[in-house]
Amino acid sequence: MPFEYKKVLVVGATSGIGRALAAKFVENGVSVIAVGRRQENLDDFAKQYGSVGEASVGEASVDTAVFDITKLQEIPGFAKDMFTKHPDIDSVMLNSGIQRHLSWVDPEKVNLDDIEQEMLTNYTSYMHLTKAFLPYLQKQAPKATSMIYTTSGLALVPILYCPNYCATKAALHHMILAMRQQLKDVGSNVKIIEVYPPAVQTELHDAKHQPEMGDRGKNLGMPLKEFTDEAFEGLNAEDNEQVPVQMVKTFLGFNGWEQERQKTMLKMAEMMKKQAH
Ligand SMILES: NC(=O)c1ccc[n+]([C@@H]2O[C@H](COP(=O)([O-])OP(=O)(O)OC[C@H]3O[C@@H](n4cnc5c(N)ncnc54)[C@H](OP(=O)(O)O)[C@@H]3O)[C@@H](O)[C@H]2O)c1
Repeated sequence: MPFEYKKVLVVGATSGIGRALAAKFVENGVSVIAVGRRQENLDDFAKQYGSVGEASVGEASVDTAVFDITKLQEIPGFAKDMFTKHPDIDSVMLNSGIQRHLSWVDPEKVNLDDIEQEMLTNYTSYMHLTKAFLPYLQKQAPKATSMIYTTSGLALVPILYCPNYCATKAALHHMILAMRQQLKDVGSNVKIIEVYPPAVQTELHDAKHQPEMGDRGKNLGMPLKEFTDEAFEGLNAEDNEQVPVQMVKTFLGFNGWEQERQKTMLKMAEMMKKQAH
């Protein structure tokens, strides 16, 4: 089914992929609540797209909320606040993320705080956010709703400079595959969507986050606009549960061996169901 949601809460919408997709939603008549830590960026988004929304198809609205997803104890309250203010949110996109360098060549230099922060931001917080938001989407049954997760091509194939980042995304990918099937098995109204970006020119690789990158970071990957156009097309495709973009489709294996992995997962599930009877 094409993208059928009318109000999306986008977590991690202050820059890069989240901001660009949030803008695309508004331009296409989908209301957005943009979330992130940087108030000034949210204000800027509201200023730029608030009026676009009014003029867009279906008069999309724009709202913003400052929130730090690593404050795990505050997540249930945040979800409650969001749905109190916007009971019609029918899609929650978890997109925030950080990336850090890690090399085991010199173990004394390994920063365990970085490893923990990366896992907390890219994975653990996602579990807390999923637990907090899912019930609000389930309650809307039979209305179609969705959770959208941004993982990465690196969820499929790790690269060498940021292995812990790759592991956080691989963990999320595995969790999503199983979660999607669990919900399908009970005929849930919540579709689980996964967007797999390749390298994209965003702030993710900026020297402010990864000094090892120097000036190279800014230009790493495909231009953001090209990514956003292809990702949005994928989200609007008939089969939009999984949205691999650009090189993720072929070079990183989505169309090839990843399909074998997913088939094997389903076979395992069938086998275990039979064994249980
Ligand atoms: N760019 C790539 O090459 C690439 C490739 C594959 C996957 N991805 C994934 O795409 C997603 C978006 O990244 P991006 O490339 O667009 O990078 P980005 O420009 O750095 O955006 C990251 C977003 O995450 C938010 N964020 C980070 N920590 C947060 C926290 N503790 N609480 C709330 N929000 C937080 C940031 O908002 P604040 O700083 O305002 O909080 C920002 O909106 C990430 O999950 C990333 O792993 C990116």
